[in-house]
Amino acid sequence: EAGAITFDDGFGNTGACASAITFIDGEAGILRYRGYPIEQLAAHSSFVETAYLVINGELPTIEQRRDFGRLLTQNAPLREGLLRFIQNFPRDSHPMAVLSATMNALGAYYPHLASNNHQRDLTHFDEAAAIAISKVRTIAAHTFRVNRGQPFNYPRPNFGYCENFLHLMFSEPYNEYIPTAEVASALNLFLLLHADHEQNCSTSTVRMVASAGANLFASISAGVNALWGPLHGGANMAVIEMLQQIHDSGDDGTKFLESAKAGKGARLMGFGHRVYKHYDPRAKIIKESFYKALASLGIKNDPLLDIAMKLESVALSDDYFVSRKLYPNVDFYSGLIMRAIGIPLNMFTVMFAIGRMPGWIAQWREVAQTPKLKIHRPRQIYVGQTQRDYLPMEQRG
Ligand code: SDX
Repeated sequence: EAGAITFDDGFGNTGACASAITFIDGEAGILRYRGYPIEQLAAHSSFVETAYLVINGELPTIEQRRDFGRLLTQNAPLREGLLRFIQNFPRDSHPMAVLSATMNALGAYYPHLASNNHQRDLTHFDEAAAIAISKVRTIAAHTFRVNRGQPFNYPRPNFGYCENFLHLMFSEPYNEYIPTAEVASALNLFLLLHADHEQNCSTSTVRMVASAGANLFASISAGVNALWGPLHGGANMAVIEMLQQIHDSGDDGTKFLESAKAGKGARLMGFGHRVYKHYDPRAKIIKESFYKALASLGIKNDPLLDIAMKLESVALSDDYFVSRKLYPNVDFYSGLIMRAIGIPLNMFTVMFAIGRMPGWIAQWREVAQTPKLKIHRPRQIYVGQTQRDYLPMEQRG
C-alpha cells in the first residue's frame, strides 16, 4: 500500500542491497561487524579500533592503529570559520540541526575532499573519513557549549577519542574536566555499539545520496537528518522522556503500558525493531554492563532505571508485546547511560550520530567505489487516480 517501497540498488537486487559491512540475524539476535560478533568487540575492542574495522574491513595492526589515532588527533580542531558558523546559531538550536548543517559545511572548507562526481577519486578518502569521525565529536561538544553560553574548549593532543570529547564538553576555563576511566569506558561502549547497523533508515539515506555521486560530507549530513526522527535515532531521547513522564505521574509503568497497548498514541519507546524480532543484542550488552557502569559512575539507584526494568519485565510477559515480537532495542537502556555520564537530553541523538559515523562512512564508500555507480531509484506501486481529462474551472463541482 502507499508508503511501502521496493528498493533497487542498481545491481538488479530489488528489495535489498548487497553490503559486506554488517550482518544481522534478526530472529537469532545476531550482530557482527565485518564478521566479528558484537559481544566480542564490546568486550575487547574500543570505538576507535572498531571504527577502523568497520571502515577498512580488518582490525588494525599496531602501526595502522597508531596512524589512525594520529589522523584523528590532528583533525580534531575546527577551522575558525566553522567555529563562528556554530556560534552564530541561536543558542537554543537543536544540536541535530547544527550537526547536519556543519557536517555539510565541511565540504566547503575541504573542497578537495568534497568533489561531487560519479567517477570517484577516493585517494583522499582516509583523510575525509578521519575528518568526519574526529570533527563530529568537536562539532557536537562546541554546540553544547554554545547552548550553555560557555566558551569553547580545545582538543588535547594527548587525550583519547572519548576523553577528548568529554573534555571538550565539560572542562571549564579554570577547571579541566579529566574523565574517569569508567566514564570514558561507558561512553566508549555506547559509541562502539552504535558503529553500524546495516540498512537502517539513516544509513540507507547516506547510500541513496552517495549513489547520486554526492560527496561524503553531504551524504552524512542527509543521514544526520534521517537519524533525527523520533522513530529512529530520536528514540533514545524519547525513552528518557517517557520514563520521566511515568515517574512524575506516580505511575509504576502499569498504566503507561495499558495506554501503549490500547494504541492511544503512546508507544513503548525503545521497544520493537524492524529487523530484531527478539532481544536486540546491543540492548543486552548495555543492560549487562549497566550496573558496572552505573556503580562506577557513582549512581546508586536511579528511579528511571527501576521503571525501565519494570516496564521490560511486564512487557516481556504480556501477549500484546510478545505476539508482536516487541523487545528492547538499543535505545531502551542507552539513554540511561548518557544521562549517567551527564550528557543532556537534547544531545542524545547527537551521541548516536557520533557512534554511527564509521558505519555511514563505510557504507558511503561501498556505494562510491562501485565500479559502475548506478543511482538508487526505488520503484513504486501506483495507487492513485486512473487517467482522466482536464476540466475548466467553471465545470468543477
Ligand atoms: C533504531 O533499523 C535500525 O537498525 C534502526 C536502529 C539502528 O541501529 O540504526 O536499530 C536504531 O532506530 C531502533 C528503533 C528505535 N525506535 C523506537 O524505539 C521507537 C519505538 N519503536 C517503534 O516505533 C517500532 O517498533 C519501530 C519503528 C522501531 C519498528 O516499527 P515497525 O517494524 O514498522 O513495526 P510497526 O510500526 O509496523 O508496528 C507493528 C505493530 C503495530 O501494532 P498493530 O498495528 O499490529 O496493532 O507493533 C506495534 C504497532 O502499533 N508496535 C508498538 C511498538 N512498536 C511497534 N506498540 C507499542 N510500542 C512500540 N514500541
